[in-house]
Amino acid sequence: MIILDIQNVSKTYQSTGRTLTVLDNINFSVESGTTMSIVGPSGSGKTTLLGLCAGLDRSSTGSIQLHNVKLDDLSEDQRAQVRNQYVGFIFQNFQLMPTLTALENVMVPMELRGERKIKPIAMDLLEKVGLADRAHHYPAQLSGGEQQRVSLARAFSNKPRILFADEPTGSLDAETSEKVIDLIFGLNKEAGTTLVLVTHDNDLASKTKRIIRIKGGKIVADEPQAPTLKGEESQH
Ligand SMILES: Nc1ncnc2c1ncn2[C@@H]1O[C@H](COP(=O)(O)OP(=O)(O)OP(=O)(O)O)[C@@H](O)[C@H]1O
Ligand SMILES: [Mg+2]
Repeated sequence: MIILDIQNVSKTYQSTGRTLTVLDNINFSVESGTTMSIVGPSGSGKTTLLGLCAGLDRSSTGSIQLHNVKLDDLSEDQRAQVRNQYVGFIFQNFQLMPTLTALENVMVPMELRGERKIKPIAMDLLEKVGLADRAHHYPAQLSGGEQQRVSLARAFSNKPRILFADEPTGSLDAETSEKVIDLIFGLNKEAGTTLVLVTHDNDLASKTKRIIRIKGGKIVADEPQAPTLKGEESQH
């Protein structure tokens, strides 16, 4: 089964009177239950692409189908509903609610789904990412890596069918990074969650079954099996 289908997708922005093409005719589809990564230089359009796939933003042209729902014609609210039902998203810049504690941030997706007895579930998720003792801290009182882990716990909380993670280990040290990677891949193994990761970390990319390389808004390679990626470290 195909969980994500992207056809002829482009994204353009108008800035100072000219058109900036950020994504240029992107095509790919993703099998349910698989793992893949999107790699490419800074500014190549990875975050933009992930946002479109997850229905956070609308494409300029083309069609996106997520879990058999065509996102193109949906309103903002309808897309939010689809996201809440099927999607987990770990943002590159965390996007935690500043006025909510770590625990409350993790509870948000479950609250939106009208679930009950969510506090212990959220607490358990925080414990899994090693933040049980930071549950009542606000984002401003957390380090970057801690915020990233809260973001991870929140993305897990609605048991997503598909998890989009934008540089999920970008702010973490090696040890924490390994733990987080284990959690993410555990979700794939145990719950069959499809993983779509954006990463500069070649070790992480090589753990996925497929690597899509993107450059200047275009797909330049789509490799079904992850080779060892030497000499392609972060291009920041
Ligand atoms: N709202 C916007 N308006 C205009 N240009 C934008 C907008 N959002 C993104 N861009 C441009 O689109 C390009 C792609 O941005 P994107 O964030 O997708 O890159 P990226 O591959 O995720 O980079 P990085 O590895 O640094 O995170 C950039 O050149 C950026 O300046
Ligand atoms: Mg990015």
